[in-house]
Amino acid sequence: MRTGNGQADDPAAADQRAEPAISSPSAPSRLVAWHSDLAAWLDRLGWLRTLSDWLTAVLGPVRERHQDNLVVELLHGGRWVGHPLHPALSDLPIGLWAGVMVLDATDRGPASRRGIDAAGMLSAAGILAAGATALTGLTDWTVSNDQDRRVGLFHGLLNTAALGLQGASLGMRMAGHRGTARALGAASLGATAAAGYLGGHLVFTKGVMVNRVAWAIGPRRWTRALPEADLPDDSPAAVVAEGRPVMLYRHHGSLYAIDNVCSHAGGLLSRGPVTDLTVTCPLHGSRFALADGRVSRGPASQPQPVLPTRIRNGWIEVRGSQPAPRRPANGRTQP
Ligand code: FES
Repeated sequence: MRTGNGQADDPAAADQRAEPAISSPSAPSRLVAWHSDLAAWLDRLGWLRTLSDWLTAVLGPVRERHQDNLVVELLHGGRWVGHPLHPALSDLPIGLWAGVMVLDATDRGPASRRGIDAAGMLSAAGILAAGATALTGLTDWTVSNDQDRRVGLFHGLLNTAALGLQGASLGMRMAGHRGTARALGAASLGATAAAGYLGGHLVFTKGVMVNRVAWAIGPRRWTRALPEADLPDDSPAAVVAEGRPVMLYRHHGSLYAIDNVCSHAGGLLSRGPVTDLTVTCPLHGSRFALADGRVSRGPASQPQPVLPTRIRNGWIEVRGSQPAPRRPANGRTQP
C-alpha cells in the first residue's frame, strides 16, 4: 500500500508508453500479429497525425464549451442510456446496406430501370442512419486519447468514404445504371466492414468507451489507506489500497472514498476539482457525486464505485464492495 499521485498509477500515462518492438516475425506469428501491426502502421501515418491534431484543436474547444449541453451528453449515450450510443447505431447502416446486396443479388428485373425500388429504399435509409451514427461517433471521438484518436479518425474516414460510395450508388440506381450502382454499393459495404473492424479494435483491444472500473471490487477486508491526520478537509488524496486506486476526501468531518480511476477512460479523479461534493474528471469533464458515485455529467455513462470507510487507531480504512466471507469458530469459510 502506498499513497500519492505518482505517474506510475496513471492509466492515461501508461497508454502513452511506446509499443513493444516486434522483431522479424515468422509467417505464423505474422498471422496473429497483423492487427496490432495495422494499428501501429496507422499511428505512424504523418498526414493522419496532422489531421487528427488539427481536428482536435478545432473540435476540442467546441466540445468544452458545450459539454453541459444535454444533447451532447445524449450523443455519447450518457447516464440515461447507460451505454455509448454509437456502437448500437452503427448496426443500422451495416444491416441496411447488407440488405441492399441481398436484394440486388436476387433481383431479376431489367438492369436499366429507373427510380427507387426496395433496395434503393434500404440504401437511402442506411444513408440517413449513417449520418446519425457519424454524429455520435464524432462526439465520442472528441473524448478519445492519443493512438485511439488516430485510429478512430481513420475509422471515421473509412465510414465517410462508405457513405459517399453509397450515395453515389443510390444516384446511379435512380438513374437506371444498376450495374454501376451494385459495384458502388459493394465497395461501400467493403469500406464499412473495414471501418467496423477498426471500431472493434478500439473497443475490444483498446477498451475505448468501456467501463474502466467494471472489475474493481477489492480490497476484501478493511485496509489501512491513510493516517487520519494526513487528510485535511476539502483536499483530495490519492491512495492505493491493496492495489486499488482510491480517492479520499473529507468535508466537515465526513469521509468519502471513491474509485480513483474514472469509469469513462481512466482519468485520475484525485487530480480534478471538487465542488459541492462532486468531483470533475480532469481528462474529459465527467462529474461524479462523492456520496454515491452517481454521474451528474458525461461522457461517462457508468457510476463510479464508492467504498465504505472507517477510522481505526488513527488510520482511515476502506473496504471494497465484496467483503471476504467471515470465518466461523470452526475455521471453515462460509459462502
Ligand atoms: S476519463 Fe474521460 S471523463 Fe474521465
